Amino acid sequence: MELKLKREALLRRQNLIGGEWTDAVNHACFPVVNPATGAVIAHVANSGPADARAATDAAAKAASDWRARLPRERAEILRRWHASILDNAEDLAALMSAEQGKPLPEARNEVAYGASYVAWFAEEGTRLYGDLIPQQQRGKQMRAVKEPIGIVAAITPWNFPMAMITRKIAPALAVGCTVVAKPAEDTPLTALALVGLAHDAGVPAGVLNLLSASREQGIEVVGDWLADERVRKVTFTGSTAVGKHLARESAQTLKKLSLELGGNAPFIVFDDADVEAAVAGLLAAKFRNGGQTCVCPNRIYVQSGVFDAFARTLAAHVGELHVAPATDPGAQIGPMINAKAVDKIERHVRDALVKGATVLVGGRRLAEKGPNYYAPTVIANATSDMLVTSEETFGPVAPLYRFTSEDEVIRLANDTPYGLAAYVYTRDHRRAERVCGALEVGVIGLNEGSVASEAAPFGGVKASGYGREGSRYGLDDYLSIKYICQGGLD
Ligand code: SIN
Repeated sequence: MELKLKREALLRRQNLIGGEWTDAVNHACFPVVNPATGAVIAHVANSGPADARAATDAAAKAASDWRARLPRERAEILRRWHASILDNAEDLAALMSAEQGKPLPEARNEVAYGASYVAWFAEEGTRLYGDLIPQQQRGKQMRAVKEPIGIVAAITPWNFPMAMITRKIAPALAVGCTVVAKPAEDTPLTALALVGLAHDAGVPAGVLNLLSASREQGIEVVGDWLADERVRKVTFTGSTAVGKHLARESAQTLKKLSLELGGNAPFIVFDDADVEAAVAGLLAAKFRNGGQTCVCPNRIYVQSGVFDAFARTLAAHVGELHVAPATDPGAQIGPMINAKAVDKIERHVRDALVKGATVLVGGRRLAEKGPNYYAPTVIANATSDMLVTSEETFGPVAPLYRFTSEDEVIRLANDTPYGLAAYVYTRDHRRAERVCGALEVGVIGLNEGSVASEAAPFGGVKASGYGREGSRYGLDDYLSIKYICQGGLD
């Protein structure tokens, strides 16, 4: 696919450090590949520790001026950035589809979704109240003041190349932090275009620095930030294994962390559910982004009384999903991000079949379409001993499990180290209350498959991490609280 942009300048290949577009110090580059075809889209800077250090130097230099600005001034700049994202929405969507593979309508949705975090935090940043603590002693006044935590390192994944960046960077900038950021090696182009727009919108030099790096070099870049005392906060979305590594390594400099890690979401359909609505909810939640979403249902528990009807209706709909490259106007499922991702899906489905599952639809790689396609799949008779139960498949595979009682399904749903999202379909409001209360997760879709919103707190419990993004709570992770006790007032 040839990438045609209205504004060619949005295809950036260099790092943004201290307000300047720069090559990696050693002039190294790495290729960004279109997952639909395997073709190289561009070569971008392959940064290393020296570039990471330069970014931190720039963020440190810009910190005091940015912190001293009025919240309204920062908000005004964020609002201009938001407007500019929307003005360039088609180009951003085209870049995103080319490097990530998601169909263009989904990429357009993500541009709007990603931009919504910038608008939201522009507003929230101006409403950052502290506390005047009720007086405890005569002559003394106690205050709690919220302050920017300092330099933030943002490390973002490839599945949402834009939204995961804006929901980290926008709150950090809104409260007065400066930022060093590294997007995933598979999808740096959207991120580079995005910070270019931020720079043009008036984000001052050094306040927002972003550099690209290959998988191997990325470890070095992040390692430098983890060791640097000046970086006070790390925000990361990605795997639990990497999240644990960041937590261990950042202990040396005691950084504050937000970790949005792996999920293994249960999707529970009770006998008393509206089956059509449950199927629609599952299609929205499971097959968004080709199933490459941390909150997407990984285990679908259906009660015996509606199991057959649910499975039949779901398989019929899934069989009609149109699998095609992002440029096909009818595409609903694009390629997976890379060959490794397809290998994992194949391994999971093969393991399930060996252990007694049956394929209702799909169940195979679509090599005839390109290097990284896998058919949308529904499998029945899934059981607890299968890989699809214990690991996040991160692909368009829906395994169905039959259950009989509420207690049983709560036990099964919680029987995982992860706790990001869950979905519950029931028309019984007492049951809804009981089950929502019992599920060990951070996000619940109750009779609803689409949960994402800039106005809602997003994040997990257990091995899915900690911290919340979006909503008014999304500012907290970028703040520290200073207590001021003023005496001599009597
Ligand atoms: C994700 O964590 O994979 C994305 C969640 C979302 O914003 O919907």
